Formats: sequence, C-alpha cells, structure tokens
Amino acid sequence: MTIESLFDIRFPVLQAPMAGAQDHRLAVAVSQSGGLGAIPAGMLDAPRLDAELSAYRALTNRPCNVNFFCHQPPLIDDAREQGWRERLAGFYRELQVDTAQVAHGPSRQPFDAAMAQVIEKHRPAVVSFHFGLPAEDLLERVRRSGAKIIASATTLAEGLWLQEHGVDAVIAQGLEAGGHRGMFLDTDLSTQLGTFALLPQLVDALQVPVIAAGGIVDARTVKAARVLGAAGVQVGTAYLASPQSQASALHRAALQSPRARHTVVTCAFTGRPARGIVNRLIREVGPLPEVPAFPLAGNAIAPLRARAESLGLDDFSPLWSGQNASHCRAIDAGQLTRELAHGWE
Ligand SMILES: Cc1cc2nc3c(=O)[nH]c(=O)nc-3n(C[C@H](O)[C@H](O)[C@H](O)COP(=O)(O)O)c2cc1C
Repeated sequence: MTIESLFDIRFPVLQAPMAGAQDHRLAVAVSQSGGLGAIPAGMLDAPRLDAELSAYRALTNRPCNVNFFCHQPPLIDDAREQGWRERLAGFYRELQVDTAQVAHGPSRQPFDAAMAQVIEKHRPAVVSFHFGLPAEDLLERVRRSGAKIIASATTLAEGLWLQEHGVDAVIAQGLEAGGHRGMFLDTDLSTQLGTFALLPQLVDALQVPVIAAGGIVDARTVKAARVLGAAGVQVGTAYLASPQSQASALHRAALQSPRARHTVVTCAFTGRPARGIVNRLIREVGPLPEVPAFPLAGNAIAPLRARAESLGLDDFSPLWSGQNASHCRAIDAGQLTRELAHGWE
C-alpha cells in the first residue's frame, strides 16, 4: 500500500515534527498543500497539545501526524548534575547567571495516559514516535483510536523491531538528519548510518513502507530517496526558515549562514545525541561531554541560553540542523511542499 493511501494525502511528503521549532501553523501549511503536516508534542503537556490540535482542526480538515517522544523518564543522578554544573561554572560567572535559576525536573515528558486521552479525543490520522515505542497498552489505545502508527529507525535492527511491534510504516532516519537521533536499541553512535546506507537496508528487509529522512531538501534528493526504494520522505531542516516555522531569528540566521555547513551530533544540550550547527557551547565543552540523562542536561543550559539570547548571541542555543541546510530558504512551507513533491513525479 502506498503511504498516500495509508495516510490519505496527495504527495508522499511528510513535514518532520520539530519540537521547539514549530507549531500547528507549519503543519497546516504543509497539509493544505497536499503533504502530511506534523505537530510535535515532545515539549508540550496534554492541555497544550489539546489546544494545538483544536487550533489545527479550526484551520484545516486535512490529516496530520502528532509526534511524541517515548524515552525512559530519567532518574536524577546528583553526582552527574553536580559535575555538569561545575563544567559550566565559568560560563555562569562570565554571563553573571545565578545557578539558583537552574530548574530540576524533566522538561520533556514521554507519551503517557494523559496524551493518549488527547489522541482519543482528536483522532489524528497518524501518530509518530521518536526513541522507540510506548508500552503496549498505550500503543493499543493509539491503534484503537484509528491512527496509523509510524516511528523512527536508525539501524536495521531498530526497523525490524518496530515492524515486529506492529507499526504501519518505518521512518529511516539517516545520520545526516537534524535534531535528535531516534536511536533506541543502542547508545553507540558508531551504529548510526547515513541515509544512502540505511534506507536500502530497511527497504530490502521490511514489509512495511519505509519513509526516508535525513538530508532531503529539494526535488533531487526526493528523487534519490525514491530510487532507493522509499515510499515517501520526511523533511525537517528545509522547512525551518519558512515563515510558518517558529524557529528563532538566531536559529534562522545560523541556518542561512555558512556556519550551517558545519554540524555535529552532540548530547550537550539535552543528554541525547542530536545534530546541530557547531556553536560556542559545543566548541568549548566538546560535542559529547558527560551530562545528566535526557532531558535533564538542558536544565543547566537554559539560563545561559536565555541570558546569551537576550544579548543577541546563539552561544548556548541548540541550533538543530541537518547536514544539508543548503536549501533552507525563507519560502512558504506550502510552496516548499509542492517543490519537494515534484521530485516524486
Ligand atoms: C529543529 C528540529 C527538531 C526536531 N524535533 C523532532 C521531534 O520533536 N520529533 C521527531 O520525531 N523528530 C524530530 N526531529 C528530527 C526529524 O524528525 C527528522 O528526522 C529530520 O529533520 C530529518 O532530517 P533533515 O533535518 O535533514 O530533513 C527534529 C529535527 C529538527 C531539525
């Protein structure tokens, strides 16, 4: 079955959910032009997701994808917290940040029963998961709501695992991709593959459709994914500079500057590996420092980020970007969706 009929969309172009960088407005623009828009719930609580989905539905009746994280909630490890704050102490002094401002709890919650209730209320066409899948009883509630279920795989083993657990399609997230690696069976970064290597491996081994993600930014790269057997594409970075994205001015400026040619996978901002543009924090603590578990590492960064941003600096901001930001243009998200769809013809 094609993903166009599976999701009831015109073009097999999925806008990647991008927590912290977009809301329903980007999703509406993509869905209305024939792709599948996504609403990221990774940084929302249930009432805020409910409001986002109502706002989406007020603007369009096209299908959408609601996206969740499903990480293990972290245990607070005082020694790691302490170590991370000591590592950042010089920055706190320089920016005159009071460490009493550092929050303690997790800033991102995994999919849970309250979120399942929101899904049962709004019944989106597609629900997607990053970092594996939720517990079987929660997954079953999503299935019974009528949603098609998709999730990211970063290795062949993860793709097979997701298929075994009953997903309707698998997203092959290549190492080029911006934002968090969806990896969940392994923590070893050397297992991670580029899109050209991962996609055909998954296409050959799986019965369910495979959606390619990572480095896809224009009609050419869409075509390449199709040739390699993809049933569709999921595109993130290329949408970030569109007027419908909520990326900050600092993030947009970095994406559209020569700096975007240098990205790295770093755990410094959240505790999990994610790809972003190299900036001061990454340069000075290294991309893979010892940090508290996801998402706790971000708490110690947040006041530095706020202070630096108030000074117009992106030194402590996560500048999530894929390796191919060359087509990150300030064009309408609907127009970009149609341009990407040309690559499928
Ligand atoms: C700013 C940003 C935020 C992201 N946030 C999420 C997210 O909340 N959930 C998710 O499943 N993937 C997230 N991703 C990863 C995308 O789903 C996708 O794998 C990636 O954007 C594809 O690569 P590309 O950026 O080269 O197009 C994010 C990516 C970016 C760039």
